[in-house]
Amino acid sequence: MARRDPHSVTDDTQVRTTSFALHATLDFAAKTIEATVDLVFAAPGGGTLDLDTRDLTIHSVHAGDRALPFTLHPAVEHYGSKLAIELPPETSTIRIAYRTSPDASALQWLDPAQTRGGKLPYVFTQCQAIHARSLVPLQDTPAYRVTFTAELIVPKDLVAVMAAAATHAEPGRYRFAMNQPIPPYLFAFAVGDLVSKDLSPRCRVWAEPSLVEAAAWEFADVEANIAAAESLFGPYDWERFDILTMPPSFPYGGMENPRLTFITPTVIAGDRSLVSVIAHELAHSWTGNLVTNANGEHFWLNEGFTMYAERRITEALEGVEMASLSAALGRRELEESIARFAKTPEMTRLRTHLSGQDPDDSYSLIPYEKGFFFLAAIEQHVGRPEFERWLRTYLTEFRFGAITTEDFIAHIERGMPGALAAVNADAWLNGEGIPASAVPPRSRRLDAIEALAGNLPPKEVATAWNATEWTLFLESIAAPASEATCRALHADFALTASRNYDVLVAWLSLALRSGFLDVMPRVEEVLGSVGRMKYLRPLYTALAVEPMTRERAVSQFAKHREAYHPIARQMVERVLAASAAG
Ligand code: BES
Ligand code: ZN
Repeated sequence: MARRDPHSVTDDTQVRTTSFALHATLDFAAKTIEATVDLVFAAPGGGTLDLDTRDLTIHSVHAGDRALPFTLHPAVEHYGSKLAIELPPETSTIRIAYRTSPDASALQWLDPAQTRGGKLPYVFTQCQAIHARSLVPLQDTPAYRVTFTAELIVPKDLVAVMAAAATHAEPGRYRFAMNQPIPPYLFAFAVGDLVSKDLSPRCRVWAEPSLVEAAAWEFADVEANIAAAESLFGPYDWERFDILTMPPSFPYGGMENPRLTFITPTVIAGDRSLVSVIAHELAHSWTGNLVTNANGEHFWLNEGFTMYAERRITEALEGVEMASLSAALGRRELEESIARFAKTPEMTRLRTHLSGQDPDDSYSLIPYEKGFFFLAAIEQHVGRPEFERWLRTYLTEFRFGAITTEDFIAHIERGMPGALAAVNADAWLNGEGIPASAVPPRSRRLDAIEALAGNLPPKEVATAWNATEWTLFLESIAAPASEATCRALHADFALTASRNYDVLVAWLSLALRSGFLDVMPRVEEVLGSVGRMKYLRPLYTALAVEPMTRERAVSQFAKHREAYHPIARQMVERVLAASAAG
């Protein structure tokens, strides 16, 4: 037996699924999906087949007309239940009939009241890291790519969209096909009151009707992003790049589902100041979706490369100064994240060991930003032209593949011998914290912010600041800030009214840590209307660590708990438990 992914029961001595056909009927009242899935194997085979499942009820398993014996093992913490099926010799396909649980971890079912329109229900998926198994019994490891077809039967007044090509649409019945092989964590759909608007021949934005115009305006430059990315990383391989603007409870900023990126509505700031999230998810079309981490222990290969690619797109579209500012913020956030993992410093390595752990619990910006600075260090050492040449070969050779850190090392050693040793790659990959040799990003605008040393900027300086500059400035102020500083930021600079959530939440966190409670109504408004973890985490943390507001953290969470996505709920529970423990 060879199990190469600590988060999956996939055994590479068994048959390998290369495609599936799903037929699914969604029951919004019961919050369940009744489904059959046909798994098709790369080559016919027999013997045991182990599949990942979570909270599924298995009705039957068939090969043709023949019912197959199967065992659904007890659930293993974090990973779900192994479904072991006994295949007769030379089996090439099987059909599994099953039902999902109302608690399926990949799904959030929203009541009409939790949507913008307020009249119709909504459901959406979030399969990364290991939630696809709560929707479909399969080999849920990114090392195994699959193509698929899917039919969704839904209430007639709802529209279904999927991260796949639409092949049929009639009221109540939607069919899709994904002909490019994907890792299972990229399986995604949403069903709700959805309309779309075209942005370009290959891009359209989907949203609830009352949001679609604002979303189309905010994301209007998406084609320019694709053009920039193609000239940097090669042709866009996924045909379409559509965007689904999610309900506010979506727990992430964005999710790079192929052909249909999912984006939090919090990026709709009204001034396009947060669209780097689009650049990020687009960049994953190369780094992550074409070249995929073989399992969660190599997650930095997905996110570190994508931060590098995102900042190259930013540089191409907005100039080197903006890219440096973004990197400077990244460095600040990396330091904060590393401090947060002080008790488990092994989690600050790039190459991690996650056996027995829930990947959602270990999620942080470390693989993103430490990965970025590692790649930036290599680039600085070999020079940009050489690094770009190497990156192109990396993207070409591993296209539609899945790799480990060791594969990355071997590839870079072949393409740029000596480069890894020169930057002390071992310290980056296997060491804790930030290597001493890391070069902090510099920029003229960053210098100007640092020169303020936390003092308030002159009005005329501040009005010229963009959102990243504001965020950097706010993070440079040591908490607690004085009452006078807080009052000025609240009233004169009107930060409490900011529509840019990055700026708003940086400010609200500082205010809470400074005991400036005039912001409380706005804090509660955010906690009650936004489910993005990037914002919930610092706000709940700030509330929970200050004795004056700890009760507020608990009561706010009790109030909004049900509306939060299960992943966000789990994260807030941990924040509250950690602060209670001291
Ligand atoms: N793929 C991630 C989101 C993710 C990671 C979901 C791990 C589940 C498990 C996505 O590309 C991402 O990184 N989103 C960021 C965007 C930001 C870095 C621009 C986010 O959600 O904040
Ligand atoms: Zn990402």
